[in-house]
Amino acid sequence: MNDLLKNTLLIAIHEGAHILKHYFEGSFEIRSKDTLNNLVTEVDKKAEDAIIEVIRSEFPAHFILSEEAGELSTASNYKWIIDPIDGTVNFAHGIPICCISIGLELDGVIIMGAVFNPFMNELFFAEKGKGAFLNNKPLKVSMNDQLESACLVTGFPYKWATVEADPISVFERFIRKGLPVRRLGSAAIDLCWVAAGRFDGFWEYNLNPWDIAAGYLIIEEAGGRISNFKGEPYSVYDKETLATNGNIHEQMLAVIANLPV
Ligand code: IPD
Ligand code: CA
Ligand code: CA
Repeated sequence: MNDLLKNTLLIAIHEGAHILKHYFEGSFEIRSKDTLNNLVTEVDKKAEDAIIEVIRSEFPAHFILSEEAGELSTASNYKWIIDPIDGTVNFAHGIPICCISIGLELDGVIIMGAVFNPFMNELFFAEKGKGAFLNNKPLKVSMNDQLESACLVTGFPYKWATVEADPISVFERFIRKGLPVRRLGSAAIDLCWVAAGRFDGFWEYNLNPWDIAAGYLIIEEAGGRISNFKGEPYSVYDKETLATNGNIHEQMLAVIANLPV
């Protein structure tokens, strides 16, 4: 069964990627969703349709949760969690930092996930208990255990008004420590780049399960740690995400909680 699930996942993600590549730098329709810069393009929809078609051709009864299509066929213990383009604003501006993210949950546990940035030809994949890979090479988080020499990445919500916490003050605390903090514009890529050891830590408020489902498993299988902002065990339905190499996790938690490090 797992081989069929994996094949289906990989075929689906490549079908989606084909569509992203076809339209990138070309013309396509863009519109705002709930806020001006929370964008959706016709490419998000086309890629999503192609991905769902592949999954449904093999597993017509499986639960699908996809960013633009919402919830489909909910009565199954298998749930495919799909972001057809993570980094839509980048995509719409011709910035090649965007990807497709697909996670697969079984009975509430993420068992498989893939994130594919076709513009850098980087395919991240993980299966529970079997490790994480970048283009088939095993992935490992960084070894750094000092926050002061860490390279971090974060993101900011487009729907600012709905965020209770103050993302800027946490950002400011890290910046005032003189740390390099990047903002790539794709949470799924942020997570994978922590898994690959390029970043030591990532945090963000208010992500959605389709941003995180695949990256969550990729981080864990690469030896990293992911939690909420209290350091508690993580669920992809949480609104607080802290993902690190594990070594600097407590130090980042202390900064987020505004405690002395
Ligand atoms: C967004 C990206 C971004 C994050 C936003 C997400 P989208 O997803 O992951 O990095 O900061 O919160 O909404 O809209 O490009 O799929
Ligand atoms: Ca997203
Ligand atoms: Ca998206």
